Amino acid sequence: MRVILLGPPGAGKGTQARHISGKFGIPHISTGDIFMKNITGETELGKKAKEYLDKGYLVPDEITIDLVINRIREDDAKNGYLLDGFPRNLNQGEVLFQTLEEMGDHLDAALLIDVPFEDIKERMEGRRICTSCGASYHIKFNPPEKEGVCSKCGHKLVQRRDDHVEAVEERLKVYEEHTKPLISFFRKKNLLVSVDGTKGIEEVTEIILDVLTEMDNKDNNE
Ligand code: AP5
Ligand code: MG
Ligand code: ZN
Repeated sequence: MRVILLGPPGAGKGTQARHISGKFGIPHISTGDIFMKNITGETELGKKAKEYLDKGYLVPDEITIDLVINRIREDDAKNGYLLDGFPRNLNQGEVLFQTLEEMGDHLDAALLIDVPFEDIKERMEGRRICTSCGASYHIKFNPPEKEGVCSKCGHKLVQRRDDHVEAVEERLKVYEEHTKPLISFFRKKNLLVSVDGTKGIEEVTEIILDVLTEMDNKDNNE
């Protein structure tokens, strides 16, 4: 199964991706996480991506597209994957389609986690991420068992580097201008599935897993 997760920053893409990836046994490929890890590790890619990410801008397509295309060609992605944060503009969408065609593959769905802007800022302000395993929490909506400590691995929780006010504003602008047009792009291709992302985390997970399971069963019966 090849699925794309769409939605504004802070919609819950990363949160839901972990459940989907676990249930269907497909790798979760998050461009944001890849950039973030490379920045922390001070790699060449990290050095290139840092200034864009910290300001909330998109990392240029010349860097991002090759990264993803190489990743989906890896062995563990043969039977499918979940793309979180890619494509992020129409050009990335077009290139992805061309590549899939060349590979003889197709996408199954573009899943939009729909959340209005009013809810987004609180989600990003309250988000805390683990410095070791990357797990994401929310001080109010998804608190760890012990404040400031990851429930999964025991490491320290911190605020994400691009969750400060200026970057959040910019990310919302970038979303409106560059990413939102992908909604009609996928709708025209009959791939868009929209779920209400304003519900609680568990409820959203349930809705998404139901939709994808039904799709998967249909696919297997064809
Ligand atoms: P990326 O990491 O993709 O950031 P984003 O799109 O801004 O999305 P977020 O990760 O902030 O939100 P999310 O939807 O994953 O929400 P989460 O599950 O964490 O990208 C970062 C940067 O990398 C970009 O700005 C850009 O610079 C660069 N980049 C990445 N991809 C690129 C590309 N393709 N091209 C160019 N540049 C690229 O949830 C948020 C919070 O809300 C958490 O605290 C969570 O606990 C909470 N929450 C989740 N669901 C719920 C719920 N249902 N109810 C209440 N709270 C909830
Ligand atoms: Mg994310
Ligand atoms: Zn952790």
